Amino acid sequence: MTQVPVVTLNDGYQMPAIGLGTFQIRGGAGVNQILAAITDGYRSLDTATNYDNEGAVGEAIRRSGIPRAEFFVTSKLPGKYHRYADATMAIQESLYRLGLDYFDLYVIHWPLPKRDHYVEAWQAMIDAQERGLIRSIGVSNFEPAHLDRLINETGVTPAVNQIEVHPYWVQERMLKEDTQRGIVTEAWSPLGRGSSALTEPIIQQLAQKYQKNVGQIILRWHIQRGIVPIPKSRNLAHQRANLAVFDFSLTAEEIQAINELNKTDGRIDNQDPNEYEEFE
Ligand SMILES: NC(=O)c1ccc[n+]([C@@H]2O[C@H](COP(=O)([O-])OP(=O)(O)OC[C@H]3O[C@@H](n4cnc5c(N)ncnc54)[C@H](OP(=O)(O)O)[C@@H]3O)[C@@H](O)[C@H]2O)c1
Repeated sequence: MTQVPVVTLNDGYQMPAIGLGTFQIRGGAGVNQILAAITDGYRSLDTATNYDNEGAVGEAIRRSGIPRAEFFVTSKLPGKYHRYADATMAIQESLYRLGLDYFDLYVIHWPLPKRDHYVEAWQAMIDAQERGLIRSIGVSNFEPAHLDRLINETGVTPAVNQIEVHPYWVQERMLKEDTQRGIVTEAWSPLGRGSSALTEPIIQQLAQKYQKNVGQIILRWHIQRGIVPIPKSRNLAHQRANLAVFDFSLTAEEIQAINELNKTDGRIDNQDPNEYEEFE
């Protein structure tokens, strides 16, 4: 079983340096796939109310027999629950579905700036944290202006910003903005969600050089940039390979060469956080 290193967040809590994405992993088959990942060494599990799978994640944790304290569980607040009272109830309902009494990390899924209720949601999360329902509070898909509103209006800086990052959407800008504010950047769709990033010649050359597979090269690129990736896989061999990324290092030039795969329109689904409104 792989032991995963940790990163320390700005609130003092530690988060595993890689986690399992669970989007679309659901139901009985999903429980088995998550359980297989746990058996392999995954302790950080990323779910969301909008994935309709908090039940499967909680069930896999229970069936593993591993103490709850060893896990790092993340869930996300949907856009329709940004109002203070709604956010407070959504956090409680989410915990009931998982069968847990606290989250390690809870994030606002998208800022929805046109609706402009994310500061209210943040305040509800600060209060839930004070009541012990959440350890670390963070955000997802937040731009610098959104981060600064939270910080200026509540005095509380998010611990994590979970954003889209992969070789076609490198995010030098947001990585710098998060780092300047002491926020850890987490990468969603870190492998580009099955895009052709995996077949880029530079990635394949590096895989050959280091005797690793293409997924491992990309995950190592994230980790050396100080980013925490959460690759999703239902496949046991992929799950296992994705954890085995702590025994080799890319050079600075190789990291730069991957950075150069960036495309100006590289987002997978063109989800601009200033515009995008999820799942209403
Ligand atoms: N905050 C947000 O707004 C947001 C948005 C999107 C996603 N997320 C989170 O981020 C997680 C990951 O993103 P994602 O699921 O979109 O995409 P991803 O992790 O980049 O890619 C998943 C795809 O890559 C394949 N794969 C995994 N490991 C592989 C390997 N070693 N070699 C080749 N192929 C491999 C998987 O197939 P197999 O199953 O066959 O391995 C799956 O089709 C999600 O599950 C979710 O938890 C968050």
